[in-house]
Amino acid sequence: MTIELKGRRVTKEVEPETGMTILELALKHDVDWGFSCSRGTCARCRCLVEEGAEFLSEPNDREWDRLDEEELEEGFRLGCQTAVIGMGPVKVRNKPYF
Ligand code: FES
Repeated sequence: MTIELKGRRVTKEVEPETGMTILELALKHDVDWGFSCSRGTCARCRCLVEEGAEFLSEPNDREWDRLDEEELEEGFRLGCQTAVIGMGPVKVRNKPYF
C-alpha cells in the first residue's frame, strides 16, 4: 500500500503517513513537487488525484477559494492542503497551471 507521487521529473512510491500533506510527503522523499506559499494561494502544488481520493482529506476552504468547483470535481487538489487520512493506495500527479 503506497502513495505514488509523480513530480515533474521524479516519480516515487512512498509509505503513506497519516496527517502529512501530499506536499510534505513529496518534499520528504525528494520528489520535485512545485510549491511556493504552502498556504493554499499560489497553486504551484496543484495536483490531480488519479486514485485513492477516499484516503485523503476532503477539500478545505482554501482549496474551495483557489480552485474551481469543476477542478475539484475532476480530482484536482492543492498538495499543500491535502492530507493523508487513511492507509490505502493513492496516485497523485503534480499538475500546476504552468
Ligand atoms: S504551495 Fe502554494 S498553494 Fe500549495
